[in-house]
Amino acid sequence: MYRESQTVLFDEQCIKACVHDLGNKITEDYAGKTPVMITILKGGFVFFADLIRAIKIPVKIDFIRAKSYLVGTESSGDVTLTDDLSIGVENQHVIIVEDIIDTGRTLLKLKNYLLGKGAASVKIIAMLDKPARRVLPIDSDYTGFTIEDKFVVGYGLDCDEEYRNLPYITTLEEIDEQVERSEN
Ligand code: IMP
Ligand code: MG
Repeated sequence: MYRESQTVLFDEQCIKACVHDLGNKITEDYAGKTPVMITILKGGFVFFADLIRAIKIPVKIDFIRAKSYLVGTESSGDVTLTDDLSIGVENQHVIIVEDIIDTGRTLLKLKNYLLGKGAASVKIIAMLDKPARRVLPIDSDYTGFTIEDKFVVGYGLDCDEEYRNLPYITTLEEIDEQVERSEN
């Protein structure tokens, strides 16, 4: 059983400033183009919604679904992509918007998939990066925050589907159920 730790890792203001900076970089780097921005559901949706509004050039948006987690905080190691794309990516400049890069399995699979569909370029924006956990050689082109090897929730990120609606990012701590029961 888990509960939110007392200290917030990144608060709303800090996230807002970071998203604003990332939006400016995309606006600059993709000037004159209309990139196709794709987020990976469900985790990326909050970051995606804020980021696209911080970008001042035209963009197209689409969604893809990836599943790599079983329950709790441990990965199944196997990534399944569900292609829900309604925009053709052939010859398009694609930007993948991801909540967090952990092992790198999801992003490597999706990047190769999009290149295989003929995308002109595929870049990655990750709100969070946990480099210590990487098992495959992939990095983001734009990164919000680099963090230690800790399981985090909030701002779209979940633990067993909870916590996605927190406006900040925080870590979870494991609690002893016996202790928790006596506290309540
Ligand atoms: P991957 O291991 O890089 O393929 O990460 C896949 C997905 O695992 C991420 O997109 C997240 O949805 C999820 N994930 C990885 N680390 C965390 C975390 O600390 N909190 C919540 N979800 C995570
Ligand atoms: Mg995700």
